[in-house]
Amino acid sequence: MLRARVALNPAAVVAPVSRRTFGSFVEHMGRCVYTGIYEPGHPLADEDGFRTDVLALTRELGVTMVRYPGGNFVSGYRWEDGVGPREQRPRRRDLAWRSIETNEVGIDEFAKWAEKADVEIMYAVNLGTRGVQEALDVHEYVNHPDGTALSEQRRANGAEKPYGIKLWCLGNELDGPWQTGHKTPEEYGLLAAGTARALRSAEPDLELVACGSSSSSMPTFGTWESTVLEHAYDVVDYVSCHAYYEEHDGDLGSFLASAVDMDFFVNSIVATADAVGARLKSTKKINLSFDEWNVWYLSRFQNAPLPEEWKVAPPVIEDRYNVADAVVVGNLLISLLRHSDRVTAACQAQLVNVIAPIMTEPGGPAWKQTVFHPFAKTAALAKGDVLRLHIEAPSYETAKYGVAPLVDAVATHDPATGDVTLFAVNRDVANPVELAVDLSAFGADLTVAETWTLTDDDVYAYNTRDAPERVTLRPIAETGGAITLDGGAALITLPRVSWSAIRLTR
Ligand code: AHR
Repeated sequence: MLRARVALNPAAVVAPVSRRTFGSFVEHMGRCVYTGIYEPGHPLADEDGFRTDVLALTRELGVTMVRYPGGNFVSGYRWEDGVGPREQRPRRRDLAWRSIETNEVGIDEFAKWAEKADVEIMYAVNLGTRGVQEALDVHEYVNHPDGTALSEQRRANGAEKPYGIKLWCLGNELDGPWQTGHKTPEEYGLLAAGTARALRSAEPDLELVACGSSSSSMPTFGTWESTVLEHAYDVVDYVSCHAYYEEHDGDLGSFLASAVDMDFFVNSIVATADAVGARLKSTKKINLSFDEWNVWYLSRFQNAPLPEEWKVAPPVIEDRYNVADAVVVGNLLISLLRHSDRVTAACQAQLVNVIAPIMTEPGGPAWKQTVFHPFAKTAALAKGDVLRLHIEAPSYETAKYGVAPLVDAVATHDPATGDVTLFAVNRDVANPVELAVDLSAFGADLTVAETWTLTDDDVYAYNTRDAPERVTLRPIAETGGAITLDGGAALITLPRVSWSAIRLTR
C-alpha cells in the first residue's frame, strides 16, 4: 500500500483556529431566503416565519458567521426597501438573478434570524449602483444607538438596540464584468477607500473587507488586489477571495486536487498584499476573507441561462452534491485552516438550497447534502491551535494542477483539553493510502476519542429528500479504513477518495 508520513508537534503553531473560518452565506438568490431560511406557513415555521428545521440544521452545521445580503444581488440592492411595514415594501427586479425581490425579508428580519441561529452577521454594502452615502445610511440604521433619523427608524421598526455589526464587505466581486456596476481597479480602489474612511469616521473599529478577485482565473487576478490596496491599504483590514470548484469532463483526479488551487490563491494574494504593504512602508498586515468558496457546477449554470420569466424565488443553482464533492469541501477547509495565520474569515457559499449544504422542499422536509458533513465535523472538532505540518506523500499527475500530493492534511491542538485532531483526505481515485503519524512530541498517552470518515464505493452517490442519509459519516473502521495507535505513533488507512477527522485525547 502507498504510504504517507506526517509529524505533529504542539510547538509548531500556525495560529489559533479562527471561529470565523466557519462562516456561511445567505444571499437573496433563488430559494436561499424564501423557502430556505424563511417560509411563513410552513408547518415548522416559527412566529417570525423562519423554518425551525433549517435553524436547527444551521446550528448543527456549526456556522459561526453569515454573510448577507449578497453576492451579485447586493450590487443592485436598496437596503431601505427591506425595512418598515411589510405591506409597504416595494417589489423590485433583481437583475443579478433575473428574479422578483419582494423585500419581505430585510436586515431587521435577518438580524432576528441571525440571533436565533447564533451567528455573527457579515454585512455587504452595495458599491455597484450605490456609494458612500448609502453605505453610511445602512450603517447608521443598523449600528447607531439612537437619536438620529435612521437609528430612530430602526427603533420604531422594533429593534431597540443596535445590531453592532463589526464585519463589513465593501461591495461584491466588482472585478467581474457580470457585476452590476462593475468597475476598474482604480475606480473601485478609490470608492472602497472613500467608503472605508467614511464608515470609520462613524465607527473606528469596524473590520472592513475590500473586494479581491472573484476567481484565480480572472485576467486581473493579483493586479486587481494590488491596485485596490494601493488606494485602500490603510483603511481596510481584509481583502476578499472567491473560488468555486467543479469536476470537468470526468477528470476526478484534478477535481480532488482543487485545494492546490486554493493554496495557490491564498499564497498569491498574501504575497500581493504584503508587497503593497512593503511599497507603502507599512507594518500593518492585510488578512484574507475567503468569503465565497465551495463546489459549484458553474459550467452547467452557464450552459442553462436564467429563465425568461420574472419570478419570486425561482430555484437557481440547486446543485446536488456527491461523495467526491464532499471530499473536496473537506479538503478546502483543510486549506483554509492551514492558512489560519492570514485567512481569518471564510464563508461557504451558500447556506440553503443555492449551492448549499442544507436543502429544503417548500412545505416539506429539510435535509443534509453530502458537503454538510465535513463542514460540520471540522467546525466541531477544529479547536485551539492550527499546527504546521510537513507531509511526505506520494504524488499523482493532474491535468489541471500538475503534480499533486495524494494525501493532504491539517491538524489542530487544543492546549485547554489536550485534544489533537487530524483532518486528512486521500485523493487517490483507486487505492487506500496508509498515513503514518508521528505523535512523539505529545508523549505516549494519547488515545483515539473519535474517528469520522466520508467515503463510498460510489463516489457519485448523493443524498435526496427520500434518502437523506445515503451518504453520511461513519467511524473509519466501518469504511474500509483503519487506525492503530501505538505509543507515540498512529497508522491510519485512508480509504480511496475519502475525507477523515480523527480526534485523539489524553
Ligand atoms: O454564490 C453565488 C454567486 O457567486 C454570488 O452571488 C457571487 O458573488 C458569486 O459570483
